[in-house]
Amino acid sequence: MSTGIETGRLAPDAVRRMFDRIAPVYDAMNRVMTAGMDGRWRRDAAATVVHPGDAVLDACCGTGDLAIAGARAGGVVTGLDFSEEMLTRARRKAPWIEWVQGDLLELPFPDERFDAATVGFGVRNVQDLQRALSELRRVLRPGGGLAVLEITQPQGVLAPFYRVWFDKGVPLIGKLLPGGVAYTYLPASVRRFPGPAELAKLMQATGFGDVRYRVFGGGIVALHVGVAK
Ligand SMILES: C[S@@+](CC[C@H](N)C(=O)[O-])C[C@H]1O[C@@H](n2cnc3c(N)ncnc32)[C@H](O)[C@@H]1O
Repeated sequence: MSTGIETGRLAPDAVRRMFDRIAPVYDAMNRVMTAGMDGRWRRDAAATVVHPGDAVLDACCGTGDLAIAGARAGGVVTGLDFSEEMLTRARRKAPWIEWVQGDLLELPFPDERFDAATVGFGVRNVQDLQRALSELRRVLRPGGGLAVLEITQPQGVLAPFYRVWFDKGVPLIGKLLPGGVAYTYLPASVRRFPGPAELAKLMQATGFGDVRYRVFGGGIVALHVGVAK
């Protein structure tokens, strides 16, 4: 019988514990897995929705890199995550940013609190994607932008190479690391996650207009942008 790790479906507590365990190696693994491209992707995501002076929520902030990109784009950022170990790293990197421990599915903020929101590699992990998007919509003011950066099933000429790398190479490296089963869960969670067109439809159905997306990083990453109606 397959486990939640192999099917890419884990209960919220198991997801939180998994990120607590991989927190010490999380940043280094990002650089290795993406050949250093991930910093650029986060900068692009932040630049799409953040304007100077905006109150910005970075949900599922992890060790804080996308929140920091939002702050560099001029936002006054709040980073939220439910993993204390990931937040500890974020606090260390950027003590001037507000870091909040909380659940994306039950955001501890009032309606229309933010001008913009970002989520990087986070929504793939939640149990109820529609609810996550509804919560993000709730805390955004009408007209506020949401940027969702997420790994997607590779398309195009490089797809066979990426499949071997993500499905075989990354889990193999993970086996050498403490808590490295996260890197078996990663490709499995990408396989069961909606494709870019489906995610765009879901954003439209949860109160976002002008939804657009582009796929980059050679076809492995999608950036969706929508405007709260
Ligand atoms: C793959 S990491 C992404 C971290 C960061 N955004 C980045 O760009 O590297 C996913 C993060 O989402 C967090 N997360 C997953 N489900 C969550 C939830 N329901 N509420 C809050 N955080 C959640 C995990 O704890 C983890 O830190």
